Amino acid sequence: MNWLATIALLCAASSVRPQCFSEDDDLSIVPSNNLSSITDFGLDLFRTVFPYNSTNNFFFSPYSIWNALTLAYFGSGGNTQAELERVLRVDDKVQTLKNWRSLEFLYQMRQVNNSNYTFNLANKAYFDNNLSLRSCVKDILHKELELVDFSNPIQAAATINDFVSQTTKGRIPTLVGADDVVNAQMVLANAAFFKGTWLYQFKNSATQPGLFYSSPQDYSFVDMMRQKGNFNHGVSEELGAHILELPYTGEAVSMFILLPPFISGDNGFNRMVERLNGTTLQNAIEEMWRVQVEVILPKFKLEQAIGDELVQALSEMGVKDLFDAAKANLTTFDPVASLSVGKSIHKAFVEVSEEGTEAAAATALISLRIARPAAPEKFECNHPFLFIIYDNFTKNVLFMGAYKNPKA
Ligand SMILES: *[C@@H]1O[C@H](CO)[C@@H](O)[C@H](O)[C@H]1NC(C)=O
Ligand SMILES: *[C@@H]1O[C@H](CO)[C@@H](O)[C@H](O)[C@H]1NC(C)=O
Ligand SMILES: *[C@@H]1O[C@H](CO)[C@@H](O)[C@H](O)[C@H]1NC(C)=O
Ligand SMILES: *[C@@H]1O[C@H](CO)[C@@H](O)[C@H](O)[C@H]1NC(C)=O
Ligand SMILES: *[C@@H]1O[C@H](CO)[C@@H](O)[C@H](O)[C@H]1NC(C)=O
Ligand SMILES: *[C@@H]1O[C@H](CO)[C@@H](O)[C@H](O)[C@H]1NC(C)=O
Ligand SMILES: *[C@@H]1O[C@H](CO)[C@@H](O)[C@H](O)[C@H]1NC(C)=O
Ligand SMILES: *[C@@H]1O[C@H](CO)[C@@H](O)[C@H](O)[C@H]1NC(C)=O
Repeated sequence: MNWLATIALLCAASSVRPQCFSEDDDLSIVPSNNLSSITDFGLDLFRTVFPYNSTNNFFFSPYSIWNALTLAYFGSGGNTQAELERVLRVDDKVQTLKNWRSLEFLYQMRQVNNSNYTFNLANKAYFDNNLSLRSCVKDILHKELELVDFSNPIQAAATINDFVSQTTKGRIPTLVGADDVVNAQMVLANAAFFKGTWLYQFKNSATQPGLFYSSPQDYSFVDMMRQKGNFNHGVSEELGAHILELPYTGEAVSMFILLPPFISGDNGFNRMVERLNGTTLQNAIEEMWRVQVEVILPKFKLEQAIGDELVQALSEMGVKDLFDAAKANLTTFDPVASLSVGKSIHKAFVEVSEEGTEAAAATALISLRIARPAAPEKFECNHPFLFIIYDNFTKNVLFMGAYKNPKA
């Protein structure tokens, strides 16, 4: 029988009972303060899912996808579990649950104390109400598990879309259609929403049309925001790129821009993406210093939907059984039903403007061979760059994207 389940991954992001995940759940484990595995997973996924030599833009939330897969991991067993452990770089469900809860708690607390930015994150696993979920799993994941009637797909899709729309403040009004959930047994939905204002805002009056070079031959006019100020700036020889930090108010989350030099006939952008991992990114961040610089950055808005490409990418990375109806083992959720994940949808939205971000070539070239080059006069993002919305405290990539083409 072909049990179709849907994994709906979206952006735009306790107490453990004994013997639920295994015979010997160790409840004394404390949350780890090393979350580098989440970043490594996210950057790996970025490289795999984004055809980065294309002229397309791209935007997604690796942290949101990590959350949805982690929810599936809690329900997994056998080889499905082993594959997820390798790719998510985890080795224990209790430890992973504690890390996931502590991150969730941290982000919620920050939200409570800070009116400067909004970061909403919500995870849900919707199960058909005729399944018999194990009661200990219902206890552990009581906020996440919800029963719906998938025999009424229109109603079920509406329930999921309401949740997503609410979490993303209407930025992503529909994630799934009724067609996506016909015959579904399970839908993993994850929604993340970020709205931040820059600590140093751009002045509207300084924004002017400027040229953006997708390639030396292909350019177009975009609205370029400008400001001069003191910013953390650095050069990463490992990545072959300049890096700039644009902090949001609240001072925990920043946007980092990675800008490779633009040299005709040399694909610095691809080389940078190939070398990007948690270590190289963190090294680049730690080697910045404050300089006065004129920042020139396009004002832009991106919307992204990733579907089959996501399953394809995860499968290339090693998550295969989860998506295979004949092999998936999600017996920790329900020992009887043959659940598997049949579909994946990730939607993301970002808007970068003078005030901040809702998440929702003729450039000044500086040699990368000098350890500490003279302070640049300009950080001019007039050719393809990466942008990473990063939680500096937990070192977690919340969202990331590539801006390559204003016309796309
Ligand atoms: C964090 O864990 C990774 C392995 O997951 C390890 O390579 C790295 O050195 C650790 N970092 C710190 C600061 O302990
Ligand atoms: C990107 O690389 C792939 C594989 O090497 C190739 O098939 C494709 O044509 C390239 N795309 C562009 C726009 O260069
Ligand atoms: C599924 O996983 C459970 C728990 O790891 C294991 O006991 C069971 O044998 C697995 N089923 C299959 C078909 O691999
Ligand atoms: C939030 O504020 C409360 C009361 O001022 C404080 O106890 C708590 O530590 C703060 N939490 C965070 C995450 O800053
Ligand atoms: C908002 O950010 C400003 C500037 O960083 C800070 O002074 C203020 O305390 C913040 N407000 C709240 C409620 O955190
Ligand atoms: C649950 O419902 C699905 C369709 O909605 C059906 O295919 C399946 O047989 C039902 N399972 C049970 C255990 O009743
Ligand atoms: C982020 O971390 C880097 C390196 O630790 C530091 O230089 C920078 O000031 C931090 N930014 C914020 C906003 O805390
Ligand atoms: C990260 O990338 C650098 C440069 O490509 C490489 O030397 C390093 O081994 C990589 N680290 C990890 C943890 O993959």
